[in-house]
Amino acid sequence: MNASSRIPGFYKLDPEARFQKLVEFSGLSADELRPLQQPDAGMSSIANRMIENAVGTISIPLGVAANFLVDGIDYLVPMATEEPSVVAAASNAALIARENGGFHASSTAPVMIAQVQVMDVADPRGARLRLLEAREELLTLADAQDPLLVKLGGGARDIEVRLIESTDFRCLVLHLHVDVRDAMGANAVNTMAEALAPRVAAIARGRSLLRILSNKADQRLVRARAVFDAGKLGGTEVVDGIVEAYRFAAADPYRAATHNKGIMNGISAVVLATGNDTRAIEAGAHCHACRDGRYTSLSHYEKDADGNLVGSIELPLALGLVGGATRTHPAAQAAVKLLAVRSAVQLAEVTAAVGLAQNMAALRALATEGIQRGHMSLHARNVAANAGATEAEIGVLVGRLVADGHVRLDRAQELLARIRAGEE
Ligand code: MEV
Repeated sequence: MNASSRIPGFYKLDPEARFQKLVEFSGLSADELRPLQQPDAGMSSIANRMIENAVGTISIPLGVAANFLVDGIDYLVPMATEEPSVVAAASNAALIARENGGFHASSTAPVMIAQVQVMDVADPRGARLRLLEAREELLTLADAQDPLLVKLGGGARDIEVRLIESTDFRCLVLHLHVDVRDAMGANAVNTMAEALAPRVAAIARGRSLLRILSNKADQRLVRARAVFDAGKLGGTEVVDGIVEAYRFAAADPYRAATHNKGIMNGISAVVLATGNDTRAIEAGAHCHACRDGRYTSLSHYEKDADGNLVGSIELPLALGLVGGATRTHPAAQAAVKLLAVRSAVQLAEVTAAVGLAQNMAALRALATEGIQRGHMSLHARNVAANAGATEAEIGVLVGRLVADGHVRLDRAQELLARIRAGEE
């Protein structure tokens, strides 16, 4: 049994004391986790190796969500985000889910798709069948590009051939399905696609053009579900309100975009903290939300026989543990160590649970008091600092702004002037 991620009062500690809790929870040394505390140490030279024309780095806060229990394992989840309330909201929803055993997750194998586009094929239907007949040859050729992946239990699994037609355009596309194990997989499948392309073009008797992965990673799906106790949520009315909020998103793309953005508030924060590709994950998620031709909610909510709220989510998550920034960025490495996940699939399952928690928390707030109150105190701190308040003045000014109910820069400047003049 691992240590509990339920740490009462965690949010009240100062950052150093929270860091000590991470050390205790994880059993790792403070040095191993130090990059979470000092993410920019040594980054100037690392940044120069990561991208071209690097001139520096940009820091955003790294928080840790508590209370996550996923398939019986406790996690403190690192989240990198600039948005107030995200980490607190995820932690609160995870605390409610804990009452009923936390989150349960499952996944497909980590299979990525590469596309090989073939133009100028005279007989596309015949070519399709010729390519399918060459399945074994093509899979063997793909596997030959990455013996290490094959040794680790991954490798090419299948092919599919599609005919893409529109009024002024026609091409044949071969999809190569590759189990990429613990990698995000872009490098592995792109290499295979490039190696396969000449042979694919020869079999199809056409001209190969693009050879690249698809971010519509719908062979790499992750699912998470949880039961949220009606009493802990605030009663039957709250459960009903959340279900109605979900139905709004399910029926209306304008609402669904915002609903899914709330999910991605959690998911992208974990993706960024672990050095994964936020754009790949966002592209895959939103494409999945539109898979039936109409953009809709990535999550679902219903009421179970006991009147509790059942939340579920399914989406593609192409996350890796090896390669990319996950390997080169010290803070990302420390984040992965803190999570103590043994596979990329396990990382994806925790991430899906965070997305569901984040979404449930937003719907609960929206269906009850609205989100502004929860945002106010942290938002007020930012506004107070922007108004020019010193550390000593921030506490008083934040109290006044929140009590006032108008957390705006002009109001903060006005109040600050009055405080300084001794009028407040
Ligand atoms: C804000 O970043 C996210 C929400 O708008 C999500 C939602 O509306 O469900 C609160």
